[in-house]
Amino acid sequence: MRPRIVIMISGRGSNMAALLAANLPLEVAAVISNRPGVAGLALAAAEGVATEVVDHQAHATREAFDQCLAETIDRYQPQLVVLAGFMRILTPAFIRRYQGRLLNIHPSLLPAFPGLNTHRRALEAGVRIHGCTVHFVTEQLDHGPIVAQAAVPVLPDDSEATLAARVLACEHRIYPEVLCWWAEGRLALQDGGRVRIQGAAFPDGSLLVPGITA
Ligand code: GRF
Repeated sequence: MRPRIVIMISGRGSNMAALLAANLPLEVAAVISNRPGVAGLALAAAEGVATEVVDHQAHATREAFDQCLAETIDRYQPQLVVLAGFMRILTPAFIRRYQGRLLNIHPSLLPAFPGLNTHRRALEAGVRIHGCTVHFVTEQLDHGPIVAQAAVPVLPDDSEATLAARVLACEHRIYPEVLCWWAEGRLALQDGGRVRIQGAAFPDGSLLVPGITA
């Protein structure tokens, strides 16, 4: 039987769409959004995937929201929970519940630029290389064992929008790749917090994309 995942989103869902389009050897049991009416929900429904909304605004506390989220996720019995543009900070209790089974994609080369507005901050810092990271989620925000990273150049005339688009194109490549490794049982989370990949299509989970200009 194919392993099952649940994808969590908050908005347009382009990473989720890339995962659905990749024909991965896994079953996407459901897509859950913390915001009603977002574009990603419609995309998922059009692909025939079950959708759920757990509206954070309907819960008085973070703990109550996370509890409802966990109950919703667990109804689908996924082996892995995949955050794809999910923009809520999760409580330690939630993260512990899915320890080693919770993946996130972040639009920077972690540990640089955790948090929000990563592309603006990369431009302000003057870095020459920027990118994205897929990592296991731990209690520390945007930390946790790194599975894969993709790097792109920062070009002299970049705006936040052009840099974001270049990074997003890489997100759409590495997240399906990582999920494929996971589904094929090729990812191992080692003691000490490092991830081992057996037989990755690109070495050691690193993807360098020189010369991308759009
Ligand atoms: C992506 O850049 C992701 O890395 C970040 O939020 C954005 C979500 O985009 N966490 P989308 O909803 O997948 O299109």
